[in-house]
Amino acid sequence: MVRASRGVDYAEFVQGLPKAELHIHIEGSLEPEMMWKLAERNGTSLPYESVDAIRQAYDFTCLQDFLDLYYAGMQVLEEERDFFELADAYFQRAERDNVRRVECFFDPQAHVARGVPLAHVMDGLSRAARKARERGVRVSFIVCFLRHLSEREAFRILEEAMPYRSEFIGVGLDSSELGNPPSKFERVFAAARDEGLRLTAHAGEEGPPSYIWEALDVLGVERIDHGNRALEDAALVSRLRRDQVPLTVCPLSNLKLAVVEDLAGHPLKRMLDLGLLVTVNSDDPAYFGGYVNANFTRVANALDLTPSDLTALADNSFVAAFRD
Ligand code: HPA
Ligand code: ZN
Repeated sequence: MVRASRGVDYAEFVQGLPKAELHIHIEGSLEPEMMWKLAERNGTSLPYESVDAIRQAYDFTCLQDFLDLYYAGMQVLEEERDFFELADAYFQRAERDNVRRVECFFDPQAHVARGVPLAHVMDGLSRAARKARERGVRVSFIVCFLRHLSEREAFRILEEAMPYRSEFIGVGLDSSELGNPPSKFERVFAAARDEGLRLTAHAGEEGPPSYIWEALDVLGVERIDHGNRALEDAALVSRLRRDQVPLTVCPLSNLKLAVVEDLAGHPLKRMLDLGLLVTVNSDDPAYFGGYVNANFTRVANALDLTPSDLTALADNSFVAAFRD
């Protein structure tokens, strides 16, 4: 049994904390078993001989390694019910981790580019969200723009998503970070803001602190997803602390993608001690080996976090949420 300081059992303590999850890509919750099942149902060919072989392939040295398998894996998602089953499974799993609110990313461009109608994506996700809300889990969606594509393509998906405007609360920016600075998307983020959408962006996962500055000052985002590399820039840390800009940190993702060498070297505790508004999230739990409670307990164990650190992290997740 893993024991926290003062004799608290981390797993039990974390289970008892109500929390919001703010950094989860729904396509990253596609477990190998479901990938296999959907491939059979839809007649999609997979380059794997078994469910075990899928899991064994999840050995990454950087973000791009992961993204290549992530985009390949999601090709099994085609029909409305595929998106429903994916999101329904994640919402049920999150609920078991005492997650009360989810602000869930999805990558519509990655589906539309494969010829999947946006209606299949939106209708399936929305149906799963309605079911989760009936159980009392508060669920919202955030459209992510793929930063390896052009700003024009981001505008195109934003326009295509507008008939579903009531189904999402914001926009984000994900995919290959290096070489794709936030400033590339200045005009489409301005357009999203004009539509009343909330703004967030991945920055400082692999990219430099300047990408975090750009996300804040050029895009005007309200949260930073990851933000690890902020700690390299003292002026940026002061800014994030002063404005209490939330950072949605993902410890097991950082470990699997070699953003940190080991969890003992993870910056989460330093971020807390610096007075930053940090939260703990799972990012792509099916690929990184754990849902939100596993992220909490493993990083707590590695960094010897106190019960009050853990409570602060869980409380921060509600402060950082776009919706109450
Ligand atoms: N980083 C960037 N893009 C992503 C990620 C991530 O961790 N997960 C899914 N798309
Ligand atoms: Zn992410």
